[in-house]
Amino acid sequence: MCVDFFNKICRNWDEISKPDSHKIHFLLQKLSWNVSKRVLDVGTGTGILLPFIRHYSPKSLIQAIDIADGMIDIAKTKYAKWKNINWIVSDIEKQIYRGKFDQIILYSVFPHLTRKTETISYLVNHCLTDDGELLIAHAQSREFLNHLHKHKDERVSNDSLIEIENQCSIFEQQGLGIIDADESDEYYYIALGKAYASSITVMPAPPNCTCSSWK
Ligand SMILES: C[S@@+](CC[C@H](N)C(=O)[O-])C[C@H]1O[C@@H](n2cnc3c(N)ncnc32)[C@H](O)[C@@H]1O
Repeated sequence: MCVDFFNKICRNWDEISKPDSHKIHFLLQKLSWNVSKRVLDVGTGTGILLPFIRHYSPKSLIQAIDIADGMIDIAKTKYAKWKNINWIVSDIEKQIYRGKFDQIILYSVFPHLTRKTETISYLVNHCLTDDGELLIAHAQSREFLNHLHKHKDERVSNDSLIEIENQCSIFEQQGLGIIDADESDEYYYIALGKAYASSITVMPAPPNCTCSSWK
């Protein structure tokens, strides 16, 4: 389970994962931030993305969720004085949100999901506002990340990305609308929008889920 891995390395995460500001800005600019009021940062980790989200959406309410309590604890300490952040330790693949978000961001998280298509479909169809957007983003190439995970630790060795065209086809087969997608030696991203769907296929709720609502 990747949760054990991330809890184990949480204290070193900020050292081993220095954010590349230029690339993060490039990736976040794939979203249109003019309407952002509520942002869901999935797999927030130690909160590396939070200052960037605040940059684009200074007054937004941010829901920061992570399956690893060790990661969230560090983020909470780092941003203890920040207002309008709601911290949740939970598995995004099991938690059902009744609240709606203008932006949902999965930065450096997607390979670690076990039910990728179902989870993204659920988030787009149930957790985005009508003109909301969801961004899957990485500041490294697919090849780099797949190699890193494969050789890093057995708990993440199968966590991988597939070619972006194939991933987009899978999403489109589920009725999800792609706003923009690209991959290179430097990045990998897919932006999805509810308003871009050709035909909506609403995925059923995952079994044994718990419920939570934005307060
Ligand atoms: C590679 S780290 C990235 C953390 C942060 N986004 C960053 O860029 O520094 C992946 C994070 O996703 C979290 N994660 C993995 N699977 C998750 C899930 N199903 N639900 C919530 N968080 C998850 C991990 O605990 C970890 O903190």
